[in-house]
Amino acid sequence: MNIRDQFKPDQLDPMETASIDELRAHQLQRLKWSVGHAYHNVPLYRQRFDAVGIHPEDIQSLDDLAKLPFTTKSDLRDNYPYGMFATSMDDIVRLHASSGTTGQPTVVGYTQNDIDTWANIVARSIRAAGGHRGDKVHISYGYGLFTGGLGAHYGAERLGCSVIPMSGGQTEKQVRLIRDFQPDIIMVTPSYMLNIADEMERQGITPDELSLRLGIFGAEPWTDELRRSVEQRLGIQALDIYGLSEIMGPGVAMECAETKDGPTVWEDHFYPEIINPVTGAVLADGEMGELVFTTLSKEALPMIRYRTRDLTRLLPGSARRMRRIDKITGRSDDMMIIRGVNVFPTQIEEEVVKVPQFSEIYEIHLYRKGNMDSMEVHVELRPEFHHLDEAQTQRLVQELKHHVKSSVGISVAVDVRGCGTIARSEGKAQRVFDKRHQG
Ligand code: DLL
Repeated sequence: MNIRDQFKPDQLDPMETASIDELRAHQLQRLKWSVGHAYHNVPLYRQRFDAVGIHPEDIQSLDDLAKLPFTTKSDLRDNYPYGMFATSMDDIVRLHASSGTTGQPTVVGYTQNDIDTWANIVARSIRAAGGHRGDKVHISYGYGLFTGGLGAHYGAERLGCSVIPMSGGQTEKQVRLIRDFQPDIIMVTPSYMLNIADEMERQGITPDELSLRLGIFGAEPWTDELRRSVEQRLGIQALDIYGLSEIMGPGVAMECAETKDGPTVWEDHFYPEIINPVTGAVLADGEMGELVFTTLSKEALPMIRYRTRDLTRLLPGSARRMRRIDKITGRSDDMMIIRGVNVFPTQIEEEVVKVPQFSEIYEIHLYRKGNMDSMEVHVELRPEFHHLDEAQTQRLVQELKHHVKSSVGISVAVDVRGCGTIARSEGKAQRVFDKRHQG
């Protein structure tokens, strides 16, 4: 049976219902294959493993994985574009790339089997979220080098859904198509969902005129507070999909509809670890740290102990036996240190969303005066609160400052901007503008 035919839309995959013992045995068998595949086909892995004196045959238990060195984004950059591929270019049927901050993109490749596995896992993810065959799926993740659009697309097709491949942008048209084509499911970044929701309101469209039942949101951090707000505004269930291009794309982990308690890691394909980001030591389940993945089935680009920089913890299985990750707090690179306090944008988001008169769209601006760092949070009033006078608005500002001070522990300035003036996201939102090193 080829990989494509292994997906049965109407029943869980055997590995979704396997016992923990079966799962661990499967992982160990796949791990041995993956480490050997990497060692024998990618010079970088061979050099690294030889340098620490570990041969693939030394991997005899899942714990032995910790003996292997980590892989980082800079390894991919240093071997740009194809230096870490483990198969010949003849077998690569797809390339994707992520832009990153330094300008040098990270290039990832897929064999036909990889594409089929990915489609199966995204189909599994949509099913776990409560989608099924026959659902219409509106995809607003960008199509192109970004893995979001095409990753979601192939998975939704594999499940047997009718796909509306809208891609990102053209927000007015998004709204028109959502009204006219009557999709059941939307797959989009949470920040672009907010933008689309604002446009719906602007056009006077209410949720009960829409057919949407489910939103599958990911590609950037978002909070449970935002989930509640979006669910209420749109009358949908909002579920979290996690993934990264280096490991595959969307669908590395997916929240299940029954429990809505953080994404289940599809551990039969991606082995997770949490490490102390400073020492690299493996941490116990439940402890916060950096998420690390080892691919167990990828042919074109096996990743051994890839450091995601995403901060979270591993939680026990709930809807499935496979472990979950907690909602991602942020990336280690997103952490801001303000007067000695570590702050993530998601912590500010939680507080902004708690003030219902403010829109969920915000920006964080960082400044430095002398040796003092300061944070200014930009927010907007929702259109229906535009009539508020200066004194009323100032009371809301005080409320937000108070919330941030008491839960995050820092004093911030809050600037209420004109409606629609904060830049709207059409994909991943840029929330933080660091002006500390200017002038
Ligand atoms: O963002 C893949 C994806 C597309 C996931 C669509 C979900 C939906 P990259 O562009 O390589 O791939 O970015 C990966 O985005 O390391 C996280 O920092 C962040 N990220 C992705 N999903 C989530 C999520 C795609 N659900 C990087 N929550 C990851 C928080 C997320 N952060």
